[in-house]
Amino acid sequence: MRKRLHIILFLVVSLIMVFAITVFAQGFKLNSIIDLIREDKSVYIETLEEETKDYIKEAGRTESMNVYEDISVYTIYYPVFENAQMNEDIKEIINGAISEFNDKLSQYSKFTPSRGVLYINYESFNYPEDIVSVIFDIKYTPPFEETAETYLLNYVFNTKTNETMTSETTFKNTDIITEGIRDYFETRYPKESFIYEDFSNIPKDKLVSNFVFKKDNAVFYINKKDILKEGNGYVSVSFDYNSIESCFNEKNESTKPFIKRRTLDPNLPTIALTFDDGPHRVNTNRLLDILSENNAKATFFVLGSRAIYEPDILMRMVNEGHQIGNHTYSHKSLSTLTINEIDQEVSKTNDFVKSVTAKDVELIRPPYGAVNQTVISNTDEPLILWSIDTLDWKSKNKDKIREEVLTKVKDGDIILMHDIYKSTIDACETIIPELIEQGYQLVTVDELFELKGIDLNANNKYYSAKTK
Ligand code: NI
Repeated sequence: MRKRLHIILFLVVSLIMVFAITVFAQGFKLNSIIDLIREDKSVYIETLEEETKDYIKEAGRTESMNVYEDISVYTIYYPVFENAQMNEDIKEIINGAISEFNDKLSQYSKFTPSRGVLYINYESFNYPEDIVSVIFDIKYTPPFEETAETYLLNYVFNTKTNETMTSETTFKNTDIITEGIRDYFETRYPKESFIYEDFSNIPKDKLVSNFVFKKDNAVFYINKKDILKEGNGYVSVSFDYNSIESCFNEKNESTKPFIKRRTLDPNLPTIALTFDDGPHRVNTNRLLDILSENNAKATFFVLGSRAIYEPDILMRMVNEGHQIGNHTYSHKSLSTLTINEIDQEVSKTNDFVKSVTAKDVELIRPPYGAVNQTVISNTDEPLILWSIDTLDWKSKNKDKIREEVLTKVKDGDIILMHDIYKSTIDACETIIPELIEQGYQLVTVDELFELKGIDLNANNKYYSAKTK
């Protein structure tokens, strides 16, 4: 009897002691560090340097704040700028994180011997000239815990326009970005670890809202807890500016430096590649890939009767900065038609393209190049012909097509090809990089005429944009 009581007593006392030691040790560990920081400023500064060495800080001056309260400790590093608005915004972000932290702590007793810790640090970037990006790394460790919960928050500001850049104002379409992020996760995590079975159900702001602009890449930070069932911390997915050029909202002044088409040089040789008779599910998509890899733009004169089956390709063309023109609905020779029939052939295609892309089609390429006075007088858009005919539909030979283009090409040319043939796409695979290598800018028809300072008018036909 007595022996058993002894054992129980011993066990109870041991348990209490283990518990007390654990609690004491944790409390002591934090207390000692914080006390040192409070008593000795040199230790504090040393801490500051050590803590910041891995964080890139291109913009702003670092200030820090250490607060030591009954059940909480904050260590916060934040940037200070010349701009009052920015400092105000940063203060708001920091205060938001502190109040969220305090909310989480409210469940703990005031006399908890262990403290909750809030640690905030940041990275800052200054690219391009007027844009400052900050990404805050916010770590919260609850009392008695050892692992911090981490999340990130961004802040991007244009110091010239004095405007905050959010994903809503900066991007018009984030499909390429969300697709890239999806690839990142799907190649690294098994299917069952995702919160959402279907990636497209993840709210967009969880994927694209935390971005910064670095010198070579736009970087998107995704908090793992928003994607994965068991996730702490974050991942970053970087995008080359060329690859997401079409995602930027060109109506926002701040996005100008990211959009290449605005940096076209009127003094460089420039040509327009044009593709008729598509879209074609396989070949047009492959051509779009090639154009994208080479950061080249083209013009697609689509057939309405084909386009109606490929609305997603039309969207892709527009999203990636290409121009869509009208190649009529059913490829009839317009010069054989009545005014009414001409109007039908043209407007059916225009209406469909506009219903999908929300853009007006502003160019017509008459099938077979067949144009007479009736056609010229009864169409509302400029008629775009060509100065180089590759005859790709006839040869279906990639080497011949390549030769046609490369031996004849001159500044201001409009080149005719067809994106429905595999041989044409095979040829483009080499032609496009070769033309760029030779110094040509590959642009849309609109861009070509704009660069050459030539007005495009309805009731007119154009073969090229040659000025000499
Ligand atoms: Ni045609």
